[in-house]
Amino acid sequence: MTTPETYRSYRDLPAVAGICTIPEAARIGYSVDECVRRLKRHHWAMRRLHMIFVSRLTAEPIYELKMGFSLHAHYCAEHAAEWRKRVGEMREPPLGLDHAPDRALDVFFDEVASTRDTAALLIGLYEHAVPELLGALRRHRDTTNRLVDHPSFRICRFAILEFEEILEFGTRAVAQLVDNVRRSELSGWKGLLDRLLEQAGQLDGSEKPREGEPARLFSITPWPFDGVPQRDERFRDSYNMGVHAEAFLYDPKFPPGPKTLMMFYKRLREIDVPEMMASIIAETKGKSWGYYLNMTRQLWDEARHAMMGEVGFVNAGIDWSRLVRINFTWSMALNTQLTPIERHAVLYFIEQGLMPKTGKRFEWEVGTASGDPFARMVQDYDWADEVLHAHIGREWFVKPFGDAAKAIEYGDKSWTKVLIDWGSYRERGLTAHENWWPRLYLAWCEAKGTKPDPAVLAYDTTYAASRADLKDVSVSA
Ligand SMILES: [Fe+2]
Ligand SMILES: [Fe+2]
Repeated sequence: MTTPETYRSYRDLPAVAGICTIPEAARIGYSVDECVRRLKRHHWAMRRLHMIFVSRLTAEPIYELKMGFSLHAHYCAEHAAEWRKRVGEMREPPLGLDHAPDRALDVFFDEVASTRDTAALLIGLYEHAVPELLGALRRHRDTTNRLVDHPSFRICRFAILEFEEILEFGTRAVAQLVDNVRRSELSGWKGLLDRLLEQAGQLDGSEKPREGEPARLFSITPWPFDGVPQRDERFRDSYNMGVHAEAFLYDPKFPPGPKTLMMFYKRLREIDVPEMMASIIAETKGKSWGYYLNMTRQLWDEARHAMMGEVGFVNAGIDWSRLVRINFTWSMALNTQLTPIERHAVLYFIEQGLMPKTGKRFEWEVGTASGDPFARMVQDYDWADEVLHAHIGREWFVKPFGDAAKAIEYGDKSWTKVLIDWGSYRERGLTAHENWWPRLYLAWCEAKGTKPDPAVLAYDTTYAASRADLKDVSVSA
């Protein structure tokens, strides 16, 4: 029953489902054509950024940048997927999402992709590309009609949230890593980036584009993908395979407490998984976006696993850079010895082997038994992530392969082909395979105020023992 009183209360209710006011909803925004035109440019920017972040993380030595690039690649892949979906909703077949919407805009991204050094890359990404994209997203959010184009408004709003986070990271990275000398050397190139965007009519095409062949500087010679992993100086002794983590972890005579240290080591060592996955993603062309989306999600998960190990050490009062030797032998060997499909096969072969008893459940049980709630939590999620990764492997490696048994056999064969040469690393003077375990264990005991267990302290097993053991090197993916 409607009375004058209740009618008055209707007036006070939020109009238009609370998304804006009625006058705002009546304002003229973009047409569908204009909206799609801009969405395609945002999409192209995200797609190009995604590949730049992926392609540069392996050979980027600075750990924090490697991790940041992994996250930013994941964000770009996720948002690009949303944009593709939205364009597909707007009576736009064929979608035309796989070619550049503007030549000068594409050259702008070629320039960022072809930078030779970290400083130029950071400036291109975080002082030009990301702020321009963020500006374009804000323009779209603020100009499109919130009622008629609410789906685009909504995806813009969520993307802005994460691109603001990317920009904040990037601004801090630039402040720390780009000095004034390099900045002034790059001033001409910065001017070129601005001119390219002017020529493109800005990133979103909000201004009139200019005709003509766009100028190039760095991208005259494109920067090829570099799959050789690099690490910063906190990662000393990158060929060290002097402590066999799995042999310790699976040995029932050792207690669960010190085993959490080995698990943190195994987690932090997982930096090699994004380094290796980046090479698969960067060198595999022409797949559907779902492939790049899922593979990049896994790449980010593996970067998180590495950071879980880092946090585990810091949380336990351990200076990991001084006490732990994190090697890159797995990513180095796979990236330089195998084809992208063989690398994917090895990854799948290792990950599907992590599910049985000695795998992720076991690590979670060790974490639980240790009484360390952080180790337990980490292994809980690491296990859950692994189930997802096995699924991603089935979807994007096994399915196209056609036969599950043959796919595993191919993974096994590819893994057997890989040469991780413990002896030669030592002979060539790359490492002495020093046993760093006792020092780490003693530091841990000291931080906890407990007495070292002589049997644990005496642990001295390297990865040299056998070819079969070498296969355990990276059962951490
Ligand atoms: Fe992992
Ligand atoms: Fe994994």
